Amino acid sequence: MSTLDDVGELTAARFRKMSPGNGPKLPSVDLSGIPAGPRWPVLLQTASLLRFRHRFLPYLHRTYGDVFTLRIAPGGRPLVIVTRPEHAKEVFAGDPEVFHAGKANGILGPIMGEHSLLLQDSTEHKRARKLLMPAFNGHALREYQSLVTDVARAEVASWHPGQEFRSLDRMNALTLEVILRVVFGVTDEGRLQELRPCVNKTVNVSPVILLGWGYPKLQQYGPWKKTVDNQHLLDRLMYAEIRERRLAPDLAERTDVLSRLILQGQDGDGLSDTELRDQLVTLLLAGHETTATALAWALYEVGRDPEPLARCRRASAEGDDAFLEAVMKESMRLHPVIPMVVRTLMKPATIAGYDLPRGATVGPSIIISHARADNHEDPEAFRPERFLGQNPPTNTWIPFGGGVRRCIGAGFAQMEGTAVLREVFAAYDVTAVGDDEPQVRNITSVPRRGARVRVSEG
Ligand code: HEM
Repeated sequence: MSTLDDVGELTAARFRKMSPGNGPKLPSVDLSGIPAGPRWPVLLQTASLLRFRHRFLPYLHRTYGDVFTLRIAPGGRPLVIVTRPEHAKEVFAGDPEVFHAGKANGILGPIMGEHSLLLQDSTEHKRARKLLMPAFNGHALREYQSLVTDVARAEVASWHPGQEFRSLDRMNALTLEVILRVVFGVTDEGRLQELRPCVNKTVNVSPVILLGWGYPKLQQYGPWKKTVDNQHLLDRLMYAEIRERRLAPDLAERTDVLSRLILQGQDGDGLSDTELRDQLVTLLLAGHETTATALAWALYEVGRDPEPLARCRRASAEGDDAFLEAVMKESMRLHPVIPMVVRTLMKPATIAGYDLPRGATVGPSIIISHARADNHEDPEAFRPERFLGQNPPTNTWIPFGGGVRRCIGAGFAQMEGTAVLREVFAAYDVTAVGDDEPQVRNITSVPRRGARVRVSEG
């Protein structure tokens, strides 16, 4: 990558190529024999799923049972939802050549780019996953931990006793800093200052903007133009960072994700600059708000009950992470950050006893799996103890999906969450302020009122 014009052309080419409508076409679908579901107009079903899934999906489960079909836009395509662990297993264990995940994420193409792990399938997905995996293994996670702790400690040090705030906002700021420093490995304060607003705008891009990409002419106007301009700036900063990092004299000693990816690719099939950019933006979008949301719910739930609060404070003082890890897991069970995972069938397949046609989309509902009383006793209650010294039965706790597409950052999120809780409870008692409930925000579900808490020295 040599000039700014080159970067501009790369950004523009990505928007052209990855705009919805320019991607691969999905096969047409034969709807006979699919599970029952509502007969409402397609747009109403789609809107209900997008906006009100926390009420809509339980309603469908009560009405149609453990397996049901929604018809969603565009074109009323069938989306078959499964809710039992044995059916989730059939989906997760499905042949990756048949059960594609990338297609469903296509709308994110202009931002993430064609090489993104989230968008790829088959051989390309396998290769990218193999290249990225070492940066997320147990050894690497242990090395990130002290930097994550530093970022968390600095955040907590900026609070004062008696302060009341939306924990979601503070956790978003914190996890963004973690991505910039621990994943991108940026240390230069000037570049961090340029990156922060630019990355924030990228993460906050709305569905209206995403859908508008189907009409390339819109990219010359208003919010769409601003999005393209912001992407251009982000690309410029990212490519500059990648170029400089390749030449960094201390590359071998650095522990951030980007440096590891560059280093391990030096003797053979490494990632190109464009691939590195696409994967970094993917990690940013997949790993920032998700972890912040899980943490915000964790603080809110602990802050509603003196007993887990006392245990968190004790665990933090004694350096015993088991209870804090259980708090993160239970927070993600009670408040799934991502509502479901989906796969599109490239060939007919039998799931839950139904012969589903090529082109159908199928996926386990995380919301319902986590709320089933036969999966988790007393499912409405926040009880971290259920994760102490034991794991729930397979495929009953699936906040990170499963199979070959299981979240590559699951261990990272768990490590980060535990480190942050350790720092918060080392310093403060946390009390929830008011009630909260999940609200849909793009792909994730966040606390509607931001999970407000007050911190005090106790
Ligand atoms: C609490 C935090 C998080 C939650 C709830 C979460 C959830 C998920 C889910 C449900 C999937 C889809 C899995 C499937 O299709 O079976 C996924 C995929 C992914 N996540 Fe996460 N995630 C979190 C944090 C992270 C972090 C911290 C990173 C990276 C730094 C990350 C990177 C990714 C990537 C790259 C994928 C695509 C994997 C693939 O397709 O092979 N996530 N995540």
